Amino acid sequence: MAMMWAGRFSKEVDSKVNAFNSSISFDGRMYRHDIMGSIAHAEMLGRCGIISEEDSKTLANELKKVLEDIENGTVELDMNAEDIHMFIEATLTERLGEVGKRLHTARSRNDQVALDIRLYLRDEIGEIKKLVISLAEVLCDIAEKNTDTVMPGYTHLQRAQPITFGHHLMAYAQMLLRDVGRLNDTLKRLNQCPLGSGALAGTTYPIDRDFTAEQLDFDCAVINSLDGVSDRDFCIELSSSISIIMMHLSRFSEEIILWCSWEFKFIELDDAFATGSSIMPQKKNPDIAELVRGKCARVFGDNMTLLTMMKGLPLAYNKDMQEDKEAVFDAVDNVKLCLSTFIPMLKTMSVYKDNMRNAAARGFINATDCADYLVKKGMAFRDAYKITGSLVALCIERKTDLEHLPLEDYKNMCELFDNDIYRAISLDVCVNMRSSKGGPSPESVKEQINFTRECLLQLNQ
Ligand code: ARG
Repeated sequence: MAMMWAGRFSKEVDSKVNAFNSSISFDGRMYRHDIMGSIAHAEMLGRCGIISEEDSKTLANELKKVLEDIENGTVELDMNAEDIHMFIEATLTERLGEVGKRLHTARSRNDQVALDIRLYLRDEIGEIKKLVISLAEVLCDIAEKNTDTVMPGYTHLQRAQPITFGHHLMAYAQMLLRDVGRLNDTLKRLNQCPLGSGALAGTTYPIDRDFTAEQLDFDCAVINSLDGVSDRDFCIELSSSISIIMMHLSRFSEEIILWCSWEFKFIELDDAFATGSSIMPQKKNPDIAELVRGKCARVFGDNMTLLTMMKGLPLAYNKDMQEDKEAVFDAVDNVKLCLSTFIPMLKTMSVYKDNMRNAAARGFINATDCADYLVKKGMAFRDAYKITGSLVALCIERKTDLEHLPLEDYKNMCELFDNDIYRAISLDVCVNMRSSKGGPSPESVKEQINFTRECLLQLNQ
């Protein structure tokens, strides 16, 4: 195929170079956005008298037909084309002859590609947001059923203080709310229209950039044409927002993997969301959670690819920037893949409340409450801490726990202890008393769920 720039060249491009240079295999997915952008551009050219109204209409109508034909399979993307932009223009010109050739007036592929990625990613951000929101909703649903499910809270992966499963889940819900916030922020800066920046220096034609920006639902037109064609900040921001989502999913996955183990057995994944082993018949593996944790790595890599690709580029467009698409698409594809598998995996898992409670009943998880008991009776916290430490040591020596240590031993250690110590350190009391705002008590968790649901409702509007 003769190249579009053949006039300047005396040789056909080497076939290896063509394959090396071509991006249609990965930018072909932007065909719809490319066509939408071209329709807006064609309409603007007509309105501004740069081409005739008639040609403008012919172009817009044929572009709509090309879109239909790609969508219904009549037109297949040609993998020998240089990129999706050239392919659509060539298809149009094949159909319209002279008129087709007028489309690229007052435009360059540099502003065209900048426009297409923004349009494409804007849609994808919408999809990712929906998934993050629905994951947060699922967390609220499960938390609601577990506001009084006592489990150990950990620091250093050592049992620390008793919490509720609902409390634990609502922590993840807050991360997801922030994730949606970050996606919205990314969207704000992405949603500016680069069309009309031309190759780099705008154009001498009397174009109307505000018209195309409005037609394509952008908040405004990009202010500077050099910036318009050379900015990929929005790709970096998006892959970084996605990296944070993946990091959250990965931490959650790590916990799910632990909770599924026989050592914890806090949950069991549904058979449809776990896998077996080829050799060990007893195995039920949390592969999905492991893969999500694993895929986090490639998404971080995508973010680093984009940062590194951009760091040395002089203004304005450089071909290096063609590498933006595979990286940002990979991040987008993988976060969607992970979220859409993670959601039903969570929805269908069984929660073993008794195992959670039993784990919370061991490991002196109520030691802080024992110290607090003495504080409430007037002792300074540091002294109470020390006495409780000695009591724990005594229990370990006697192979018992604080609940079963005789009152006599308590009294020997400190006069302030009385029979009410047993109530003060009972698991349910320990959890119910932790009713400070944001705490694990059933009441606090209910408040957190209500708050989160309200935020989600607003985000859904
Ligand atoms: N396929 C190119 C890209 O993805 C389109 C822009 C080409 N512009 C150019 N001046 N070669 O970046």
